[in-house]
Amino acid sequence: MDILFVCLGNICRSPTAEGVFRALALREAPELVVTADSAGTAGYHVGEPPDHRSLAAARRHGYDLSAHRARRIGPQDFARFDLLLAMDASNLADLDALAPREAQGRIRLLLEFAPDAGRLDVPDPYYGTAPDFDLVVDLVERGARGLLAALASAPSVVAARPGGG
Ligand code: 4NP
Repeated sequence: MDILFVCLGNICRSPTAEGVFRALALREAPELVVTADSAGTAGYHVGEPPDHRSLAAARRHGYDLSAHRARRIGPQDFARFDLLLAMDASNLADLDALAPREAQGRIRLLLEFAPDAGRLDVPDPYYGTAPDFDLVVDLVERGARGLLAALASAPSVVAARPGGG
């Protein structure tokens, strides 16, 4: 299972989701054969490390995102990944618009896997402050844990979206 986390700039939310998911998968579900990557729908920050506020928030929660460099999603990603997980509804709409029909059913929102979070969007923290970046870590931890549970119980169901391709 190869999973791509997607946000707008690939410097705040999706690198956090990638790093948190990879760490939790190693720690809590080492039997799962799963890879994680991330990308942005926009190219403003290609090649840059994560936003310093995301690096700091991740570090406060015990995650190291320092190896990440931002990249923009490309056509090959829709063929390569089993699951493409958007951080918010805007990212989801952008992905749906870019994706070939056969990939539509593999595009979901991360927080669909965290029904207890009470929301579906990981809010964009870019114009926010430290608590907004802490909320990103908290929400992606919930999403990552829910996703790991779903993968452990029924990997094939995870990639199927009602009405998708
Ligand atoms: P991200 O946050 O999508 O979570 O990486 C943002 C990063 C950059 C911008 C917006 C959101 N920007 O407008 O440059």
